[in-house]
Amino acid sequence: MKKQLEEILKNGLAQIEVAADLKQLDDVRLKFLGKTGELTTILRGMKDVPAEERREVGTLANSVREQIEAALSQKLADLENEKLRLDMEKEKVDITEPSTGTKRGALHPLTRFNNKFMELCVEMGFTVIQTPEIETDYYNFEALNVPKNHPSRDMQDSLYITDTILMRTHTSPAQVHAMETLKPPFKIVCPGRVYRNDDDSSHSPIFNQFEALVIDENVSLKDFMIMVREMAERLYGKDVKMRVRPAFFPFTEPSIEIDATCQMCHGKGCSLCKGTGFSEFFGGGIVNPKILEMSGIDSKKYSGFAFGPGIDRSVMITNKIPNIKYLFRNDMRFLKQMR
Ligand code: DAH
Repeated sequence: MKKQLEEILKNGLAQIEVAADLKQLDDVRLKFLGKTGELTTILRGMKDVPAEERREVGTLANSVREQIEAALSQKLADLENEKLRLDMEKEKVDITEPSTGTKRGALHPLTRFNNKFMELCVEMGFTVIQTPEIETDYYNFEALNVPKNHPSRDMQDSLYITDTILMRTHTSPAQVHAMETLKPPFKIVCPGRVYRNDDDSSHSPIFNQFEALVIDENVSLKDFMIMVREMAERLYGKDVKMRVRPAFFPFTEPSIEIDATCQMCHGKGCSLCKGTGFSEFFGGGIVNPKILEMSGIDSKKYSGFAFGPGIDRSVMITNKIPNIKYLFRNDMRFLKQMR
């Protein structure tokens, strides 16, 4: 029996050694350790071994089983490692292979400029809001101190949907929505498309503005100017020059028009700024107390300032775009140049 066991050990180890895959290895395991396997059968015959030899043979049989089991698990680990290595080799990615090139998209120049302005406003403590592009006559005009049949309506050529509903001609209705719904103090900014019955090389029936409104106690023109200066410096650099002209808007009193260093010629004087070195930055002023009252804000306690820059012109100047229509045609040949 001892001989048989030694034979089993020798054969078993040899067959484990040559097993080429997991299937073959399992066959070897069954052949020796399975229910009817060679070693199992021998162990079952232990009862026939003479008592004096049983101990020795038993120890040997156990040792044979342990050695075969150890060899099996070692081989199993080897085969699994080998399989993993082969799988990894098959799936290898050649990172030096030249790419077929991915097409990268880009944001529209208007979106880029708008994002930049909005980031700046948020840094300065403004909340960004959105209000409807289709407005009632009340929000677009009347609540902004532009009564029906008043000559100041002529400042904006409107696109009406019905007698009382129109495409907003400016983002200023956002002021009214904000004053009606927010409790002062607040600082809001509302970017968006606006619409006018206007169409030539520098005017488009659709264009973009944003509206900024600050309402607090004791707000003065000085606060307004400090904020505008800060904005201009962050947008155009510390050496930006500014000048202020009196203006008229029904919703602000006093109203001013602010010019900043011409971004086309950087102040040297060019055809755009008619040699002055300045171009229009935006209009604004101190909110007319009449408007505060109409929207339910106590004008004795609160005051504010508002301004409403158009952004298309700035985008045209900084990108040297000759016609405003290019901004709205979505012609890929143009957009690719603007990346
Ligand atoms: N809404 C005006 C426009 O479209 C721009 C404007 C001027 C907005 C003065 C304001 C402001 O808030 O105070 O021409």
